[in-house]
Amino acid sequence: MSFQGKCALITGSSRGIGRGIALKLSEKGARVAVHYFRNEAAAQHTLEKVRAHGSDGFIVQADVCRPDEIRRMFQQVRSEFGGLDIFVSNARTEAPTFYEPPMEISLEKWDTAVDSQAKAFLVAVREAAPLLSDGGRIVAITFAPGGRFGSWQPWVAMGAAKAAMESLVRYFAVALAGRGITVNSISPGWVEDSVLNSLPEAFQTGLREWQERGWTPMRRLGTPADIGNAVALICSPEAAWITGQLIEADGGASLVDAHLPLEFQGLEKTQEKHAKSKEA
Ligand SMILES: NC(=O)c1ccc[n+]([C@@H]2O[C@H](COP(=O)([O-])OP(=O)(O)OC[C@H]3O[C@@H](n4cnc5c(N)ncnc54)[C@H](OP(=O)(O)O)[C@@H]3O)[C@@H](O)[C@H]2O)c1
Repeated sequence: MSFQGKCALITGSSRGIGRGIALKLSEKGARVAVHYFRNEAAAQHTLEKVRAHGSDGFIVQADVCRPDEIRRMFQQVRSEFGGLDIFVSNARTEAPTFYEPPMEISLEKWDTAVDSQAKAFLVAVREAAPLLSDGGRIVAITFAPGGRFGSWQPWVAMGAAKAAMESLVRYFAVALAGRGITVNSISPGWVEDSVLNSLPEAFQTGLREWQERGWTPMRRLGTPADIGNAVALICSPEAAWITGQLIEADGGASLVDAHLPLEFQGLEKTQEKHAKSKEA
């Protein structure tokens, strides 16, 4: 798989999963527009790593909640690259900007979630389309469980915003199919070296143990590189016939039935086995 001669824009690639995607695409030869919001130093760091792969690119700042700033971002892409082959919508605002249960959430927080995902995607894809080469690729990074379930109450706004973006993916897939441009969603499971690392230590430890117990059948969290690999696959020429799909990149987490205890499903590691595998 090679992306030599291709140009990619990845929103939120200053850090976390976005950085993992930027590094994988640049390792395969793509030039990368590294987008950030406030963390210019982190974006520069990603760009240095892109250059260390022998590729190149530039950094670009924008608040994805603001359509005028999204348009300015694409103008910069046009002037630097002249065109685009891959657009990945990955940025997500910080949790305190939207994290509130349904009975209490302010309309401002609701709007932030929707503006940063569904509206940002609507505006960005319409800006990207004239720049994209025929056969280009659009990828939306989502978190599908947030839209599917209802138990993680403070996630309501982001869950609904991501679900709306996933729906837009299907509509844009049809709208752009005539040009051979594919539009897909990738839904990572929980990922290391991402927003997770900014959460309380007890949350991180609990979450890792939960996945290692069997709620992720591969018994680990994902990495930004895992998601970079998934994006690279869906952006490859061989994926030209796959469009409008939601792809779960989660080590099997979405396959586990929450109605049954893990031990009934043969998945629970006993405490002893768990301790042994940690020692090994
Ligand atoms: N982490 C997970 O386990 C996980 C699981 C499933 C799905 N996802 C999805 O994967 C994506 C990346 O998650 P992550 O955890 O890697 O993110 P992260 O580490 O929290 O990084 C967020 C990125 O978004 C940018 N950003 C924040 N507010 C912005 C705004 N208003 N406008 C434009 N950009 C903004 C940040 O830029 P600055 O660095 O400049 O602040 C940063 O690049 C998200 O869409 C998320 O929903 C994550």
